[in-house]
Amino acid sequence: MRTPIGIIGAGPAGLFLSHLLHRQGIDSVILERRDRSYCERRQRAGVVEHGVAEALRASGVGARMDREGFVHNGIELRFDGQAHRIDFPDLTGRNVMIYAQTEIVKDLIAQRIADGGQILFEAEATAIEDIETDHPRVRFTHAGREDILECAYVVACDGFHGVGRSSLPADVIQTFEKVYPFSWLGILADVAPSCDELIYAHSERGFALHSMRSESVSRLYLQVPTGTDPKDWSDARIWAELSARFRLRGGDWELQQGPITDTSVTPMRSFVTEPMRHGRLFLAGDAAHIVPPTGAKGLNLAMHDVMLLAEALAAWRATGDTKLLDDYSATALRRVWRAEHFSYWMTSLLHTDPDGTGFDYRLQLSYLEHIAASQAAAAQLAENYTGIPQI
Ligand code: APR
Ligand code: PHB
Repeated sequence: MRTPIGIIGAGPAGLFLSHLLHRQGIDSVILERRDRSYCERRQRAGVVEHGVAEALRASGVGARMDREGFVHNGIELRFDGQAHRIDFPDLTGRNVMIYAQTEIVKDLIAQRIADGGQILFEAEATAIEDIETDHPRVRFTHAGREDILECAYVVACDGFHGVGRSSLPADVIQTFEKVYPFSWLGILADVAPSCDELIYAHSERGFALHSMRSESVSRLYLQVPTGTDPKDWSDARIWAELSARFRLRGGDWELQQGPITDTSVTPMRSFVTEPMRHGRLFLAGDAAHIVPPTGAKGLNLAMHDVMLLAEALAAWRATGDTKLLDDYSATALRRVWRAEHFSYWMTSLLHTDPDGTGFDYRLQLSYLEHIAASQAAAAQLAENYTGIPQI
């Protein structure tokens, strides 16, 4: 098989890249190791930055997001038994959309198929070869057969455990990592959200987040120690712990409970690969970097990476000029490191030490009070959360 741009992975990064390239008249083939229904069902995050929502709309795949998603003009920080709202439009002129990543994946798959795009499901890339030449190749297996995809460029959008990053020579890449001592236990529940906007709650018992998927489905998370077995958490225990962490002084707010339909535990990690390109192989999205989910940046970073790549590949295809491709890694990494910092900062601000409420806890409360009192401190949070337009 032959294609100008070989893409590994049908997550949001690979799908959006293939879609943006198609709109520039450039063909691509996506190799995806899972089947379509697996890709469409995976539960992931759900906050879309202002600029990413605009990019989805501008490329013709924003209609269902605008119909079924929610515009959110703020978040609530809950700490010391009190609620404090961060108003995004007031502070930044921007907002965010609440629309599940898995729905974006469904929309992009449907659009690629409608446009005649090639997504090979259940096709696993096994090796990426000759990346230092101008004819790199991807070896893959599909329907029990080995095959080769010959390309001008290969883009690995194959997530943290893919084959892309490990195909870069060890002596040209550096990786940077931070692992946290806690994870998130996430649930989906068939119950109307108890709030209109997301609540990020700091408490002596640990962090909790109230998010949502629709008017009748809530998404909630609890900070738990790494290594937690979800089997140790009965539904009753989950609801009791969530209620305790969200409790307001005065007690005039109640968490609504309903049947839990999905439970998972996700470890927290910060990870960056530099550079994000070697020869004719590019990395995008989780293949290159991971953020802890507290800042809601994982999906957004993946989309920003491929927006840069689509523009760079279009310029190369139109004029043969590789300047934007040559700049891709440095340009993308500026946003990546900003998001890494913001995600680390939000995580450190809100997650509490299981050993007690000592020095770090006091520092967190002090800074949360500062955000509540200072327009400048709140604006910093809002600017990063809604997405910095140009970096
Ligand atoms: N061959 C083919 N496909 C592969 C291979 C392989 N060897 N390895 C991985 N894949 C596929 C996975 O099955 C998955 O569908 O690559 C895809 C990677 O998609 P994502 O993990 O969703 O990564 P990305 O598109 O970068 O999206 C980043 O996902 O994990 C969240 O928080 C993260 O929201 C962020 C987003
Ligand atoms: C989610 O809705 O799944 C979600 C929202 C905000 C986050 C992380 C996850 O920071």
